Amino acid sequence: MTVSIHDLRAWKSEGRRFVMLTAYDFPTAQILDRAGVPVLLVGDSVGRNVLGYANELPVTMEEMLHHVRAVARGVEGAMVVGDMPLMSFQASVEDGVRNAGRMIKEGGAHAVKLEGPQLELVHRLVDIGIPVMAHVGLTPQSVYGLGGMKVQGRGEAGTKVLEQAVQLEKAGAFAAVLEAMPAELGAEISQALQIPTIGIGAGAGCDAQVLIIHDLLGITERPPKLAKAYADVRATMTGAVEAFMKDVESGTFPDPDHTYT
Ligand code: KIV
Repeated sequence: MTVSIHDLRAWKSEGRRFVMLTAYDFPTAQILDRAGVPVLLVGDSVGRNVLGYANELPVTMEEMLHHVRAVARGVEGAMVVGDMPLMSFQASVEDGVRNAGRMIKEGGAHAVKLEGPQLELVHRLVDIGIPVMAHVGLTPQSVYGLGGMKVQGRGEAGTKVLEQAVQLEKAGAFAAVLEAMPAELGAEISQALQIPTIGIGAGAGCDAQVLIIHDLLGITERPPKLAKAYADVRATMTGAVEAFMKDVESGTFPDPDHTYT
């Protein structure tokens, strides 16, 4: 059974913390799903982590769909959330409805995530049965408007972030990502909302935590402060590739075990 928006809500009321991880491809989705990760986010962070873009801004709807499909093919029980890329919903509510529909219909996602206080769009999507995950605080698609990838909601500005989160819950969002804000604000928003908050750099008071899978695995060259590496896959990959090159150069690969007779 696929994890549902009701499961997430129930976990919040039971005080059960959970995780969300990004996934951008089929094998990663399979591994995370089988490990029991309940929610996989195909983030527009695919741009930085997989496609080599400087940031999220160039990512297109077609690129998102390509990766959402791969992830959807890999899961048995996890909820797949497709991130709406820049300009897939900002120009009009109609654009947003059409593109969110594509995430579900063509991508195989179970829900969409969108950045910022897009209240009318959230209402419309929820009305037509498309679950929406909200995203407030640092919203990378607005990097230039925010003047850089900076912590949001410090001091007085925290009230605005809190109000946005409350409005998004009222509009029907089933969860809210809280990105890069003081831990006190993350905790305050989490207490104010009935829906689960999923923090990334928003402190331990959030109901759930999300990390970029490449940061968690130690693949990212220069990870941000909010990320914790639980492995050093970059070093493991380098070691494996160097060992292979050495074996080929010395003539020890392929050996009889890896040769057809
Ligand atoms: O695109 C993404 O991966 C995200 C997470 C940082 C929440 O939005």
